[in-house]
Amino acid sequence: MTSAAVPIHHPVLCAEAVAALAVVNTGRYVDATFGRGGHTAALLAVLGESAQLIALDRDPDAARWAAEHFVAESRLHFVHTPFSRLAEVVAEHVTSATVDGVLVDLGVSSPQLDDADRGFSFRNDGPLDMRMDSSSGVSAADWLATVDETELATVLRNYGEERFHRRIARAIVQDRQHTPFTRTWQLAALIERVVPTREPGQHPATRSFQAIRIAINRELDELAAVLRQAVTVLRPGGRLVVISFHSLEDRLVKRFFRDEMRGPDWPPDLPIPVQAVPTRLRVIGKPQRPSAAEAQRNPRARSAVLRVAERLP
Ligand SMILES: C[S@@+](CC[C@H](N)C(=O)[O-])C[C@H]1O[C@@H](n2cnc3c(N)ncnc32)[C@H](O)[C@@H]1O
Repeated sequence: MTSAAVPIHHPVLCAEAVAALAVVNTGRYVDATFGRGGHTAALLAVLGESAQLIALDRDPDAARWAAEHFVAESRLHFVHTPFSRLAEVVAEHVTSATVDGVLVDLGVSSPQLDDADRGFSFRNDGPLDMRMDSSSGVSAADWLATVDETELATVLRNYGEERFHRRIARAIVQDRQHTPFTRTWQLAALIERVVPTREPGQHPATRSFQAIRIAINRELDELAAVLRQAVTVLRPGGRLVVISFHSLEDRLVKRFFRDEMRGPDWPPDLPIPVQAVPTRLRVIGKPQRPSAAEAQRNPRARSAVLRVAERLP
């Protein structure tokens, strides 16, 4: 792809995310989802000379982008890795081993969605890949070639909340006996054929593509891991800011924050005063959503929800 054709990613809730991190000028921060560096650039703009920003992304294209566009930025250190390695990365790169803030902007970037060769979108025909890290793991095509019908139906139901999960899984398993699924349009066409009703304004393959993408990239396991580790690497008073894009992600974040605020689930009759229950986070403010102006400017921001929590001593 030429640089002129590189699709741009508009960082979602950017000013809100930076404000939510309550940036300390000399602090140490992690942008766990670098993408094309939109949030990273906004953070660098408010950080001082001695600050440190670690950026992570498991996408090799994001790594290339960081190397090309942020090469002169000595405060930034990019690591090509899944964010489930957050704690290790902080231990390796931050001398104090704690950070002042962690930002996690979930989901896929616009360049990932718009580049047909990545196979994320049913709107462009391309190889059925869907891996965020295209250099490792199993592609959607390889997974669909062997996955058990029941497991596939469960994935479509749990990760896509797809009503017709059984019907779609059965059709995929039947069709793959004579033609393997290798292209995005081939899969989208099958789903269009077997889904009997239409949701207004939504392609019938939307839910299934989301579900398969989540399964291929183990997105919910990754999210659970980064949340757990963020709590351990934040200094007291440090902020965790998470932007999610669908209800499965947001539910997980909301529950995690709630559980961390409540502390461990000890039996109610245990003779321990409420003040002694160890809680590690407190929620800051209400969930934030993009303004009408942002949603209009950037339709991909529409479903975003930003939640903030602060590490307690
Ligand atoms: C919504 S985009 C982030 C965009 C970025 N904030 C910006 O302003 O350009 C999400 C990014 O997170 C990355 N990502 C998603 N899950 C990841 C994971 N488990 N580990 C590392 N990176 C991940 C994706 O590869 C993608 O580049």
